[in-house]
Amino acid sequence: MGKDVLLGVTGSIAAYKAAELARGLVRAGHSVHVVMTRSAQEFITPLTFQTLTGNKVHTEMFERLEAPNVEHVSLAKRVDLVILAPATANLIGKLAGGIADDMLTTVCMAAWQKPMILCPAMNTAMYENPFHQANLRKLQETLECTILQPRQAELACGDVGRGALAEVSDILTAALKKLEDIHGND
Ligand SMILES: Cc1cc2nc3c(=O)[nH]c(=O)nc-3n(C[C@H](O)[C@H](O)[C@H](O)COP(=O)(O)O)c2cc1C
Repeated sequence: MGKDVLLGVTGSIAAYKAAELARGLVRAGHSVHVVMTRSAQEFITPLTFQTLTGNKVHTEMFERLEAPNVEHVSLAKRVDLVILAPATANLIGKLAGGIADDMLTTVCMAAWQKPMILCPAMNTAMYENPFHQANLRKLQETLECTILQPRQAELACGDVGRGALAEVSDILTAALKKLEDIHGND
């Protein structure tokens, strides 16, 4: 049976790869609910995800709703799995600090008990930053969080090093395995 997946997309040059991930999840029979940060929308449009998933894409915390509904809470309750791909250093810092200042971080705050797959992507120096590393450790120790570490590659900024988003196929494999485990608990 198809499950509900929250796909959080943030302001990384790798944001376009989340479209392929959304497509793979939909093809596998799951319902994908995309939440984009404002920065993510500089890289890829909500329309792309809306078309691929057939679901409304969430971008705003304070939008007018047809029916009274606290959407960040209902979305957090509804989903079986949270995937954050690509996850910026900023998002990871906010999650580790308990900050909820936009739709994505607020849904994540409410969905902390749900399994999470976190896929960091950033420049190598940002990735190696000790605050960022401490934030990753904190999330791993505190939440049911699988971190798919970034790959070593030539990055968009021209640097060569760790920071490239994990392969979409690996993210998809990890997500489908997690969803299967949830199936097992039905
Ligand atoms: C061209 C460009 C590429 C960027 N790529 C990344 C990235 O891969 N990872 C990252 O952590 N930040 C990246 N940033 C910086 C983030 O967009 C910035 O920190 C932003 O505040 C993140 O917001 P968000 O976490 O709410 O999406 C990039 C910025 C620009 C202009």
